[in-house]
Amino acid sequence: MNYLPLLVCALCSGWSAAFYLPGLAPVSFCEVGSEKENCKSETQLYVNRLDSVESVLPYEYDSFDFCKDEHEKHPSENLGQVLFGERIASSPYKFHFNKNESCALVCTKGYDPNTKTAELDFIKKGIQLNYQHHWIIDNMPVTWCYEVEDGQKYCSPGFPVGCAVTSDGRVKDACVINTEFNKKDTFYLFNHVDITITYHSGREENWDGGRLVAARLEPKSYKHTNVNDLKCEGHPMEIPKDLTGHLEVIYTYSVTFQENNINKWASRWDYILESMPHTNIQWFSIMNSLVIVLFLSGMVAMIMLRTLHKDIARYNQIDSSEDAQEEFGWKLVHGDIFRPPKKGMLLSIFLGQGTQIFIMTFITLFLACLGFLSPANRGALMTCAVVLWVLLGTPAGYVSARMYKTFGGERWKSNVLLTALLCPGIIFADFFIMNVILWVKGSSAAIPFGTLVAILAMWFGISVPLTFLGAYFGFKDRPIEHPVRTNQIPRQIPTQSFFTKPFPGIIMGGILPFGCIFIQLFFILNSIWSHQMYYMFGFLFLVFIILLITCSEATILLCYFHLCAEDYHWWWRSFLTSGFTAVYLFIYAVHYFFSKLQITGAASTILYFGYTMIMVLIFFLFTGR
Ligand SMILES: *[C@@H]1O[C@H](CO)[C@@H](O)[C@H](O)[C@H]1NC(C)=O
Repeated sequence: MNYLPLLVCALCSGWSAAFYLPGLAPVSFCEVGSEKENCKSETQLYVNRLDSVESVLPYEYDSFDFCKDEHEKHPSENLGQVLFGERIASSPYKFHFNKNESCALVCTKGYDPNTKTAELDFIKKGIQLNYQHHWIIDNMPVTWCYEVEDGQKYCSPGFPVGCAVTSDGRVKDACVINTEFNKKDTFYLFNHVDITITYHSGREENWDGGRLVAARLEPKSYKHTNVNDLKCEGHPMEIPKDLTGHLEVIYTYSVTFQENNINKWASRWDYILESMPHTNIQWFSIMNSLVIVLFLSGMVAMIMLRTLHKDIARYNQIDSSEDAQEEFGWKLVHGDIFRPPKKGMLLSIFLGQGTQIFIMTFITLFLACLGFLSPANRGALMTCAVVLWVLLGTPAGYVSARMYKTFGGERWKSNVLLTALLCPGIIFADFFIMNVILWVKGSSAAIPFGTLVAILAMWFGISVPLTFLGAYFGFKDRPIEHPVRTNQIPRQIPTQSFFTKPFPGIIMGGILPFGCIFIQLFFILNSIWSHQMYYMFGFLFLVFIILLITCSEATILLCYFHLCAEDYHWWWRSFLTSGFTAVYLFIYAVHYFFSKLQITGAASTILYFGYTMIMVLIFFLFTGR
């Protein structure tokens, strides 16, 4: 049993490494005419799906009427990428290493008031909802760097399709940089890109060609008039709200290569990550969490000391006066403390599932912390988590079965089946409903049928049998022995004060763990919904450990108070005390939805809450444990 996590760890890291070596090893490029076996001249630009902070639905590049590659290739994607809706395709923007080009034609598209109106409308809708392109070159995002308020540069791994000016003359965020976007009720399309590729030459280090270290881009809008005489200057490309005449859209690009031998290939992601929200806030959040942990630890230690002190004092008293000792508080309930809880079945199932998710999170974060799952490994994090979850059916079955046996449960068959099926079933059903919505909307995030079948196969083919195996061992083991015997007759519970009633206790218990994580949570929600990159796994791992400590300490503390009040129904309560953090998570997610996101439309809202429900359920199981 003890070797299992190690094995999984090795498997997972081995797998992701094997999967990703091609993307992680440096690729060298050579000029046309000097290609060798180890360097090529063609630098292929790939396009990913488009997404928006105002809509949860991502769309494939091909859903829009942009220029398409005639011989379109789709690089193979891993499970995590498919689940996140990433769809990568080759683009018609093809250039050669160290060959500058200016104002090269990509393609032209024509629209008339009564032909292809749906395609144009879709582009307009994309501009309106602020959809962002995500381009990739040499497994590295093409960034758009622009100045934000205080003179700082922000490098975004995406750039918008265009800019919309509303009827009251407002322009969105980054589009204010161009003052020519000023006509009311007009859409401005970015039909030109200036790409700058920086490379590190191997001349001085004796290897051939150059390695790409940065790719930046500036979206531009030009109203080209003549395909045979492209100038790439002048007024922006306007799309009127209502088309009256023929509209010709000409897509162009310029590319310049710049040598920069200071930047290293290995640190080529740094400039993107450095412009992300800063680590000071992270330190603040860690400090904040540490204070809470210290406070709780102090409380626990104090209580322990006080209890011990009293015990010793009482022993001394017994020696001197031989008084009949008067028991009080939690000592009174020792005969009831291990009385099995009501609904032991459900609790044992939750505990089993929680174990599974807990180990999965732990290993995934640990690997991420070691740098196996950096953002350069697209989708690796998700893939690793899913594979681990599937492989960790055994601990779930074991814990659930053993707890159930300890609670004196008889219906072991239902216990095993429910452990394997209940929570994954709920998640899958939620997932499936959302998938139908995505599919109806034609979004790229809709999981293809094949992947859906593969997930089901992994669930029923690997996870379920492993859970059965774990349950078999769990039932074979002796139940956990309790240090004290349980009385035959349950004690009467005295009436409780407001603070020791179950519900207020549970509500209070969740606050402290939530206080530890909410800053971190902001970044995670940002990375999921605002598509910012998340890379501070070291911090996350730390916060994970802190969360663990706070959850257990808060639970111990409240449990102690309740036992002092002679209330011995602690099984469920201790589970729910930490589990209630999930409810705060939900409230925070709702707050985030209304304060930070500008999501519009019913489908997006349903999807947001659908995904949030999944997160909350997983988190509930995780913290509850
Ligand atoms: C491409 O343009 C850049 C910037 O103008 C220049 O430094 C570089 O030498 C050019 N490269 C070639 C091959 O002409």
